[in-house]
Amino acid sequence: MGIVEKIKAKAKANMKRIVLPEGDEKRTVQAAAICKKEGIADVVLLGDEEKVCAAARETGADITGIEIVNPETSQNAPAYAEVLYELRKSKGVTPEKADEMVKDPMYYGIMMVKMGDADGLVSGAVHSTGDMLRPALQIIRTKPGYKTVSAAFVMEFPNPAIGHEGVMIFSDGAVMPNPTAEELASIAVASAESARTLCGIDEPRVALLSFSTKGSAKHELVDKVRTAAELAHQMAPELILDGELQLDAAVVPEVAALKAKGSPVEGRANVLIFPDLQAGNIGYKLAQRFAGAGAFALLQGIARPCNDLSRGCSVEDIVATVAMTAVQAQA
Ligand code: ACO
Repeated sequence: MGIVEKIKAKAKANMKRIVLPEGDEKRTVQAAAICKKEGIADVVLLGDEEKVCAAARETGADITGIEIVNPETSQNAPAYAEVLYELRKSKGVTPEKADEMVKDPMYYGIMMVKMGDADGLVSGAVHSTGDMLRPALQIIRTKPGYKTVSAAFVMEFPNPAIGHEGVMIFSDGAVMPNPTAEELASIAVASAESARTLCGIDEPRVALLSFSTKGSAKHELVDKVRTAAELAHQMAPELILDGELQLDAAVVPEVAALKAKGSPVEGRANVLIFPDLQAGNIGYKLAQRFAGAGAFALLQGIARPCNDLSRGCSVEDIVATVAMTAVQAQA
């Protein structure tokens, strides 16, 4: 069974309520119909009911029994606006502005999650990453104890000898352009948690990557990674974690024995932490394009699960992301 099938099975065992703000988008309605039919999640579609139904008719999606909520006319909108105003008034949001904002399905969906009316949110088939992330970061915010929200990529390799039965976590590939050492430490700890929750990796082995292994190069960029490893160790002393390590010292036991003697990771990392977003985004795409790995992005370190899709996503990608969001909500 592949990782997505395993995650779907977990989602079905304890169904969660997931809101899809892009409810009148054709791939989204098709995905909602599949989630309903297969019992993956109790999905809610946001949008004008006529437009949502038109998208369903055009694609042949059976959305019978799926709740549709129109933020423009919803009875919950005034209460959501009031809370939104309280949360964002220090940032210049007025009561009138909050009333306007909650009519936007993205903000309405985020408020549903904030208020506990949905367990999680999936969006991004139409919206850009920034447009989806900003309201999530502003309103849902970070989990207690975490410094930053970041993106874990669940990487599934055709070769089962890689990582944990062919599965690894790569972070951060989508959110923090240039994390501080504290933020990088937080990304490392959140990534270990994602490995456990989503991938069933009972023993995450976390490597903080650099162009240096254990002082082989001297540079402030290397110092940042080494400090991050120390801070991550303080945050979660029980974790198997090491840095700074070059990629080969992180994933090849023979190289680790030469370059990083005594490293607790022992060249068997299954969670890779990239030093910044340029490296992380390039790294996951290299694995995707050259090694044929599947890549599924998820936000971590966020107080409640909200996940972004690529605008080029398929119906199956949306279904998979809904399932992953539901599993995060279970945790
Ligand atoms: N974690 C927690 N909170 C955050 C984070 C974070 N990583 N980043 C920003 N915030 C908070 C800020 O503190 C701020 O809160 P406040 O308004 O209460 O003060 C709020 O979120 C908005 O932050 P800004 O800095 O004003 O927002 P910004 O315009 O910088 O956008 C964003 C943040 C969208 C995450 C930005 O960093 C970004 O664009 N990142 C890259 C996204 C991207 O393009 N990724 C690559 C493509 S995706 C892919 O390839 C799969």
